[in-house]
Amino acid sequence: MATNITWHPSLTRHERNQLRGQRGFTVWFTGLSASGKSTVATALEQHLLHIGVAAYRLDGDNVRFGLNKDLGFSEKDRNENIRRIAEVAKLFADSSTIALTSFISPYRADRQIARDLHASGSQAGDDALPFIEVFVDVSLEEAEKRDPKGLYKKARAGEIKDFTGISAPYEAPEAPEITIRTDQLSVEECVRKIVDYLAEKGLIS
Ligand code: PPS
Repeated sequence: MATNITWHPSLTRHERNQLRGQRGFTVWFTGLSASGKSTVATALEQHLLHIGVAAYRLDGDNVRFGLNKDLGFSEKDRNENIRRIAEVAKLFADSSTIALTSFISPYRADRQIARDLHASGSQAGDDALPFIEVFVDVSLEEAEKRDPKGLYKKARAGEIKDFTGISAPYEAPEAPEITIRTDQLSVEECVRKIVDYLAEKGLIS
């Protein structure tokens, strides 16, 4: 970390929440490529915006066009990808927005870092931010059958290295707040399951 830097006090999170009339938090989607993370997260974003709740989705492919364009798919680069996304999600959540992140985020330790970062409060003395991990659970067989971008086919042919599920690991969550099976539920049913959870926890009304 740099030296000679000073934290500038700003509004407290509580004041910001009061002024915006909503509480920020992060919904962290994790799952294999083609599991349905982005589809469900987009539908959830639409639903929340429709009911007047500010939400914003950060997406794996999209973020790699800009903020993380210097990163590839080695373990080290994925660690850094998720570290940066966790920081950005926390900023959105701190601004009283619901951050929806759809990244494979294959390593348990990285997701734990993201969770801990939200739990750690802020320099300004604010409390923890809620962090809801959503496991988008489909089997590798199902994801490979879908293969919307043809990436599994390329990975099997050896044309893509370090491909999650084929030549790189995916560590499934052990205790996610929510699990959705996109092979058993429709997109609307998945969104409903998440929205019901958020309402039950008093995070949205
Ligand atoms: S990670 O593991 O969280 O850092 O990955 P993420 O930032 O979510 O990026 C995943 C998307 O990148 C494309 N892609 C790959 N995925 C996995 N492994 C390899 N080697 C790879 N190369 C490119 C792919 O389109 C992923 O998008 P989704 O939406 O998950 O299918």
